[in-house]
Amino acid sequence: MSIISKDIQKAVALLTNEQLVAIPTETVYGLAGNIFSEKAIKSIFSTKKRPFFNPLIVHVPSVDSLEGIVTHIPEKAKLLATAFWPGAMTLVLKKSKKIPDIITAGKDTVAVRVPNHPVTLELLRQLPFPLAAPSANPFGSISPTKPAHVERYFKDDIQMVLDGGACRNGIESTIIGFENEEPIIYRLGALALEEIEAVVGKINIKNKEEISPNAPGMLARHYAPKTRTFLVDDVASEVKKHLGKKIGILVFKQSLENTSLTEVVLSKNGSIQEAASRLYDAMHTLDSKNLDIIIAEKFPESGLGNSINDRLQRATFK
Ligand code: TXA
Ligand code: MG
Repeated sequence: MSIISKDIQKAVALLTNEQLVAIPTETVYGLAGNIFSEKAIKSIFSTKKRPFFNPLIVHVPSVDSLEGIVTHIPEKAKLLATAFWPGAMTLVLKKSKKIPDIITAGKDTVAVRVPNHPVTLELLRQLPFPLAAPSANPFGSISPTKPAHVERYFKDDIQMVLDGGACRNGIESTIIGFENEEPIIYRLGALALEEIEAVVGKINIKNKEEISPNAPGMLARHYAPKTRTFLVDDVASEVKKHLGKKIGILVFKQSLENTSLTEVVLSKNGSIQEAASRLYDAMHTLDSKNLDIIIAEKFPESGLGNSINDRLQRATFK
């Protein structure tokens, strides 16, 4: 029997009972549990096989719910919250004592987000506690953007995927931390840098784990298909280097028109937004076709193109 269901009351009951439920958001599906239940939080880590050093994002229904969760909100964080919540942005703020250390991996900060999905906002409003929710995929693998992706990963481990359809944005939230009251990007994501800078001015990026342990989820190899993946500017010439192999192709807008390849064109009319929303689904699809390799095309380096390139880079074979 399928674990996919639209029944919000059932989700409320399971979560209240310290069980996990996969929840829809506008970015990706999350694997959610009550932040105050040690049992639920431990089972998030064990279900995902996620190392305990990697902290979780706390999801709340509104900015008012941050009261008691964080101790300080910098001025620029207030501006960002007003501009973009509910939305695809996570803020890392000083945590209150109420937040269990297991959520934050012992850090003195906590990541928080008001997601923009009607089903999950309704769920959060009905619950008397916030939800910790990392992306609903095994650690290191491709994030889920459809209920069926989660079901494939976790049908033996959890009782319910709350069905909210396909995720509109399709890649994870942009994570912003604060150092000396100034915002810094810890993870590129669904909210473009340019939009953030329009609100708070020029902002630095520190999303390479090598230079910053701030978002320890940003491992060099992450979001990765099982199939060996390459990221290149010129897909056609890369194809020529791999003759005789079963090749999957992931391109932005222009088809290679080569019938011997398994190809996904992310947006025929060149919409970067549409490409982002279809990216992980395309990776799930190509990864299920028993190909020898996947060759992905690098995106133009502006706006969401940077976020897509970040994920594709982490999906490549190292
Ligand atoms: O769009 C999203 O953000 C999705 C949906 C479900 O909300 N969630 C998500 O969670 O992507 P996850 O666990 O896959 O990624 C959370 C990232 C990790 O890289 C983690 O290291 C970082 O957030 N993070 C969490 N708490 C942090 C903290 N206190 N300081 C710095 N980074 C933190
Ligand atoms: Mg994740």
